[in-house]
Amino acid sequence: MKNTESILKNIENLKKSASDEISNNSQKSDLEDWRIKYLGRNGELSSLMKIMKDISPDEKRIIGPKLNQLKNDLNHLFESFQLNNSQTQKYVDNFDITLPGRNISHGTLHPTTLIIREICDAFRSMGFQIHEGNEIETEKYNFDLLNIPDDHPARDQWDTIWLNLTNNENNYLLRTHTSPMQARIMEKNNPPIRVVVPGKCYRYEATDATHEWEFHQIEGLAIDKKISFSELKGTLYQMARKIFGSDQQVRFRCDFFPFVEPGVDMSILWEGRWIEILGAGMVHPKVLTGVGYDPNEYSGFAFGIGPERVSMLKNKIKDIRNFHANDLRFLSQFVN
Ligand code: PHE
Repeated sequence: MKNTESILKNIENLKKSASDEISNNSQKSDLEDWRIKYLGRNGELSSLMKIMKDISPDEKRIIGPKLNQLKNDLNHLFESFQLNNSQTQKYVDNFDITLPGRNISHGTLHPTTLIIREICDAFRSMGFQIHEGNEIETEKYNFDLLNIPDDHPARDQWDTIWLNLTNNENNYLLRTHTSPMQARIMEKNNPPIRVVVPGKCYRYEATDATHEWEFHQIEGLAIDKKISFSELKGTLYQMARKIFGSDQQVRFRCDFFPFVEPGVDMSILWEGRWIEILGAGMVHPKVLTGVGYDPNEYSGFAFGIGPERVSMLKNKIKDIRNFHANDLRFLSQFVN
């Protein structure tokens, strides 16, 4: 029994020294030394275990559970210190209070939004209101009310994306231009009207550096008594100077759009070349009649600008497809 007592005493002592020692450890490396010393293959625990084969069955019954307990205690001790240590370590590694804080990255407005705002602001300063319209249109507004009947060859100018929503009354499509809003606004309002309508348009087109199948337009419409072509020219000229600079030159040439008469396009002189940026004209009498206006009483002008084209000129963008490619290297260059 003396033997048993001294073995139990040894177990007690081992537990005590092991736990004292581990509590005084401060370094990670100390913990590993401790593990080798107490739990290692030739460590204190296994040399104590060795006595099991030399003792009697009666002694085993007493000593065995105690040794098992000791083993569990030591393993527990090790695990809990290891956990503590790694948390401390993480804290020490990752938290440097002398580091400056991380910047929160700011988004910027999309370049299309920026140019649309700039162009709309130019018109706003001339008394125009801003209005938005629907991207899904009916054949009636996109074509018929704009003097483009079904059999008119001018329909071929627009590569149309028809929608599978046809009912008895309407054929639906993604609008090919913002001009349908001319008719919608005139139907709902009485002159005088001065409005610009920015928005998305869609055409069934192959894309290349200057063509996208999804793009924006800014429609403009001014209707009143005695509006003349000189007002059209003056307004668009003023817009060009606001956007491109006060000495910007512009050129008007005849062009054809079924919903205006006469029709023009306007180019700006840019890096030595004339570049077309919009179509315009005096609102066609048939369009006025179609929405219930008397063309002998009212007249007006309309125009359609491609804002991406304007932005390409201003910002030296070579490929219109950049606007929808979602490439941050491109987008982050535009600071509002
Ligand atoms: N809607 C025409 C287009 O898409 C542009 C335009 C608008 C022309 C208004 C004249 C008047 O090409």
